[in-house]
Amino acid sequence: MAGPTPRPASDAQSSPEERTFSFVVVSNRLPVDRVETADGGSWNRSPGGLVTALEPIMAINDGAWVGWPGIADHEYEPFDSEGSWLVPVGLSEREVADYYEGFSNDTLWPLYHDVIAQPGYHRIWWEAYAAVNQRFAEAAVRVAEHGATVWVQDYQLQLVPAMIRKLRPDIVIGFFNHIPFPAYGIYSQLPWRRQILEGLLGADVIGFQRAADAGNFARAVRRLFGYSTKGTVVQVPETASDGSQRLRPVIARAFPISIETSAYSDLAKRPDVQERAKQIRDELGNPTIVMLGVDRLDYTKGIAHRMKAFGELLEDGRLRSEDAVLVQVASPSRERVETYRALRDEIELMVGRINGDFGAIGHPGISYLHHSYPREEMVAMFLAADVMLVTALRDGMNLVAKEYVASRIDNGGVLILSEFAGASDELKSALLINPHDIDGVKDAIMTAIGMPARERANRMRALRRRVIEHDVDRWSADFLAVLARSRPGTSSSVTLPGEDE
Ligand code: G6P
Repeated sequence: MAGPTPRPASDAQSSPEERTFSFVVVSNRLPVDRVETADGGSWNRSPGGLVTALEPIMAINDGAWVGWPGIADHEYEPFDSEGSWLVPVGLSEREVADYYEGFSNDTLWPLYHDVIAQPGYHRIWWEAYAAVNQRFAEAAVRVAEHGATVWVQDYQLQLVPAMIRKLRPDIVIGFFNHIPFPAYGIYSQLPWRRQILEGLLGADVIGFQRAADAGNFARAVRRLFGYSTKGTVVQVPETASDGSQRLRPVIARAFPISIETSAYSDLAKRPDVQERAKQIRDELGNPTIVMLGVDRLDYTKGIAHRMKAFGELLEDGRLRSEDAVLVQVASPSRERVETYRALRDEIELMVGRINGDFGAIGHPGISYLHHSYPREEMVAMFLAADVMLVTALRDGMNLVAKEYVASRIDNGGVLILSEFAGASDELKSALLINPHDIDGVKDAIMTAIGMPARERANRMRALRRRVIEHDVDRWSADFLAVLARSRPGTSSSVTLPGEDE
């Protein structure tokens, strides 16, 4: 069953602001970024997996998406974009500093990634976080029709579920945390640890990447509130509208996210992409071994650890820069946050040192690229890489690992994968490593390089089976199916692709 068709914006009875929808997604960023230029501006589509996953569901259900357009101090009107109604939420420069760069990315991000960097705990950041979450919640309920399904995404918006429930108890609320949820011993540092849990428990279903994350969450709920948790269900005591006490079940469990697998394999089949892969190897001077790392330039990714391992292999003489190159794509990220600035300096110093000590003319050792690339170029790089290095110190999932596997339609290449990335729960045929164990990483690199073709293909086939069967459509369908069944007496208003519309 499809959601009702919204009245057209030209309808005299309904201004665009009054349109309501049966399915609403709320995330910090909109699926498009605003770029302001001297002669006006434009909306650039962001090619993320979440957007691709939810787009078909949006189109079938006349969905709306609430989020920040990526620039401060600008207000934009809602508008239609490829079948979804986009609702921009404005943030001031101060809010970007306190809510986004501060509380989201300098408190929660390091805390939830096991305190790899020291989180800052500042009351002003917290106040901005709560105020901005309230704004997102209000924007979401404004566009949600009666009984709508609202799906809130990620750590920037953890207070939104309870805020929505308070404003509109008729709404079915899902939440998905894309990053890890830490063990209680770490989580308990947070001065606002109770408020965040209360915010999340406003949802009917809370999704995590790994079973371990859901377990950490349930433990925190037991420790801080004493609520009973059985399996994946938390019983939240509540006062009903007639004043009676009751228990409201909240489901908290793992739904590992994935990628649009076929989009990667389709690109990998294209002759021009395959040609580009050959060209990349040529441009690198046709080394025997091409290794690849692809990350946002973030301290959780273990970029320095893999470079250290590679540098030591060159130093030990187990590899030579004439034969082996490490291509490191590090896309710019959160550049105004001091920890990220310091990381960039550290990585660039390291690249310079390793290349200076062990490089040769035309054979630098590390080919370091501080850019983002279009998906075609990424797939060409994946096809060109004999060894893919994913050495995250902590990572909710790590979609790059899945993108590499999806691209290797030739069953070639070896994936080295950190056991601290969520993807390691599923991609068990990768060479699993502990990135802190530099000798272990070095040995894994040498094992990957020396791996017999047959074993390589067998491992890659097993990895590919997993990402083909569990793609991002399956992820969203699984989550929304559980959400639809979560509230007795209501049925989902969200239609999935392939269902009767
Ligand atoms: C991670 C987070 C996302 C975030 C992305 C990019 O994947 O889970 O919520 O959007 O990083 O970070 P940014 O701060 O640029 O949105």
